[in-house]
Amino acid sequence: MLEGTNVNLRVMEKEDLPLYTEWINKPEFFGEYNGLMQLSKSEAEKMLENPYEQKYFVIEKKDGRKIGLIFHFYVLHPAGRQLEIGYVLVPSERGKGYCTEAVRIMMDYLFLSRDTMRVQACTDTCNLASQKVLEKAGFKKEGVSRKDFFTRGKWTDDCLYGILREEWKEPKILTRTA
Ligand SMILES: CC(C)(COP(=O)(O)OP(=O)(O)OC[C@H]1O[C@@H](n2cnc3c(N)ncnc32)[C@H](O)[C@@H]1OP(=O)(O)O)[C@@H](O)C(=O)NCCC(=O)NCCS
Repeated sequence: MLEGTNVNLRVMEKEDLPLYTEWINKPEFFGEYNGLMQLSKSEAEKMLENPYEQKYFVIEKKDGRKIGLIFHFYVLHPAGRQLEIGYVLVPSERGKGYCTEAVRIMMDYLFLSRDTMRVQACTDTCNLASQKVLEKAGFKKEGVSRKDFFTRGKWTDDCLYGILREEWKEPKILTRTA
């Protein structure tokens, strides 16, 4: 468990699978800029075991309510040691600063626990909320990948954001691990 001020990040367990499957099958969960998915529980389970060491955390409020997901994985191949993150919140909990805090906690955790020089994130060029989250968490916009994702019937452009270890500098919000 990674503890912050308003949210904690808890490693996803088998018991979270039903909720995870329910979330990812709902188009509104991923918002308007992410692809649609329909997965059975066993397919969702397989998604959690993959070669890029993708690791999921449930974002929980302090009272234990589960409000979203944040995950990290190695870009292209684990040998590259380059990390990328992704995140989603349930619609009713957006706009309250929770995702920015979750990203900050994740950055503290990754830079404290991994010998990585940079962490990156990609987001649709139209996804202003996601770009704001990254900028507030100290990421810098590095460029745009054109026609990068096929999302909801069309090819979309993605912004690449990155944060370097020297820009992160020191832990900011991770208060405790349990
Ligand atoms: C993107 C997402 C994770 C943001 O989570 P969140 O908890 O709402 O983010 P925060 O509240 O920490 O910050 C959002 C910021 O974006 C701003 N924002 C929200 N919608 C916006 C919009 N349409 N245009 C510009 N800014 C916007 C908010 O005002 C806030 O900035 P502020 O703190 O300066 O007021 C959430 O909207 C979500 O789950 N979306 C669907 C999934 C998704 O797009 N995931 C990212 C994939 S890369």
